Amino acid sequence: MAEEETQAPALAAIPRYKPYYMELTKGRTYAWCACGLSKKQPFCDGSHRGTAFRPVFHTATTEGEEVLFCGCKHSATKPFCDGSHNNLRGDYELDDPDSPANRAIPEVGPGPDGKARLDGGCFVCSVEGLALERRDGLAYARILGREDGALHQSYFLFRLEAGTGPALRFPERHVVLLCSAGEGRLAIGTRSFDLAPGTGGYVRPGEAFRLEGAGLVVYAAVCPLAEGPEFPAGMPADFDERFPERAVPLDPARRQNMADRFFQMLVDRSVGSELATQFIGEVPLSKAAPHRHLYEESLVVLRGHGMMWTSGLRTPVRTGDVIFLPRKELHSLQCTDPGGMMLAGVIYPGDNPSINY
Ligand code: FES
Ligand code: FES
Repeated sequence: MAEEETQAPALAAIPRYKPYYMELTKGRTYAWCACGLSKKQPFCDGSHRGTAFRPVFHTATTEGEEVLFCGCKHSATKPFCDGSHNNLRGDYELDDPDSPANRAIPEVGPGPDGKARLDGGCFVCSVEGLALERRDGLAYARILGREDGALHQSYFLFRLEAGTGPALRFPERHVVLLCSAGEGRLAIGTRSFDLAPGTGGYVRPGEAFRLEGAGLVVYAAVCPLAEGPEFPAGMPADFDERFPERAVPLDPARRQNMADRFFQMLVDRSVGSELATQFIGEVPLSKAAPHRHLYEESLVVLRGHGMMWTSGLRTPVRTGDVIFLPRKELHSLQCTDPGGMMLAGVIYPGDNPSINY
């Protein structure tokens, strides 16, 4: 018998401002509550009767399938979270760095390798003092690799004082670049793109690239993991013409709001990158509430200073530092700089940096 509809609320109730992390059973169908009225969140208990809402069904296709069921009921990708919960309250969920619990969390400093190691494989790496390798005017170092517990991405620093660096490539890898200083060009195969601070660049699998310019500092996330670059004898001509735009500059007109913060997508599907996603954003003076995500994340601090917190440790962060956050590790970034912090991050695999839990 059809369910009777009475006055339908215009919007779903909001039982929670974050998603529910769950590991599902293969073949089982789950009825997600769309109305927000169920007492068995995130699942339907029939409380929608008399409204226009209906549950949304999802059948798990793998054993242990990890999902984030939307708790706020305002996602555009129901039944899963799309990050919309961040914009429902008008302010970002914060934490008090001076609470008794937080004051008891000890501060750690960097080890001999420049990395301050926090809980669960999280670290903050100071790039000053890193041992750099050199090749034809290009200095470089690997900051993140398998030995750090990374599963999906490795991370490199490149410095070019002046001129044209050697051609290099990471076979079968996606390379997501971020220029933090200097002016120059990113050559990919037969093409060339402007680089300036805040510009993101994307090199597709099978392509080689080269840096040209003065005072260039470029960070690179390489996905999946790679030990180091290859240096071909010349510049291979390969360029995937299906994706002609490969450099995305900082552009205030393209900012997206996330509560009282903003971010801009740099490398994403629009330039052909489906699983590696790069963003740039500003963080105001505050400490974010501790949260986790299902993607692996690397961040570079482009401006400002603060404190990186995990469940039981904390360490200072400052301009130039690289932060690594493995999947599912509880963490929180505090900005202690009155001028705010600017950061650029790469998530992999993922396409939406606002999904957290
Ligand atoms: Fe909310 Fe069924 S109780 S959709
Ligand atoms: Fe609803 Fe994230 S919890 S969009």
